[in-house]
Amino acid sequence: MELKVKKAVEILSKCNFLVVLTGSGVSAESGIPTFRGKDGLWKNFRAEELATKSAFEKDPKLVWEWYDWRRQLINKARLNRAHLAIARLEKMFEQFFLITQNVDGLHSRAGNKKLAELHGNIWRLRCITCGKVSFNVDVSLKEIPPICKCSGILRPDIVWFGESLQERNLAKTYASTSECDVMLVVGTSGIVYPAASIPFIAKDRGAKIIEVNLEETPITQIADVSIFSKAGEILPKLKK
Ligand code: OAD
Repeated sequence: MELKVKKAVEILSKCNFLVVLTGSGVSAESGIPTFRGKDGLWKNFRAEELATKSAFEKDPKLVWEWYDWRRQLINKARLNRAHLAIARLEKMFEQFFLITQNVDGLHSRAGNKKLAELHGNIWRLRCITCGKVSFNVDVSLKEIPPICKCSGILRPDIVWFGESLQERNLAKTYASTSECDVMLVVGTSGIVYPAASIPFIAKDRGAKIIEVNLEETPITQIADVSIFSKAGEILPKLKK
């Protein structure tokens, strides 16, 4: 493993533009369950059964209870060494961009500013009637589902399965993906599209790919180095 870390450090030392792509594995060491890991199920539902518009239309209370559970966990969570190392990388590289699939807002809490939250943010709410977007950081929601001033139902401002990613995020994501010379991919299973295609695009454009994950993923086949270990252990080493 030390050899792989050394190789990754060598790649990073020659890098001008670093893009980091993260998934829920980055927050696992903060006690937030990943989606497809052993603690990922909530009341035996899979994410794909709850994170959809049709699930929300059918039972907004159920979907909100799931998000409420995640909000409580996220609120209690402390930043881990992977979040801190990624925030530090932004300071070390003049050209840097972070693409995250995480909706927990922990990268911003760690200090990252150049980032796209591809799947939205769990603390942001959007009215399904008037479209108004607001932040609600009250950990205990007063009512579930929460209601907008216009009497419409508020939904989490999260990109659900079957929905399109926000244009603004996509533009920054694809621009940085085609310009970067190294992409560091951390803690994602690499199976949810379009995020899963991002390392493949970077690779096609000539970027080197460094992967940090507990296990092999579809990204492993194109990675120049794959380090199979905890992000919180490896990222501080890469930063050094
Ligand atoms: P997954 O749950 O699919 O994958 C988490 C990945 O993190 C797995 O590959 C684990 O091996 C890895 N992992 C776990 N702990 C780790 C650690 N300490 N260090 C390094 N790696 C670790 O989560 P995502 O890939 O983020 O979308 O899932 C993608 C999307 O699917 C999510 O954004 C979410 C979900 O449904 C929406 O909610 C819209």
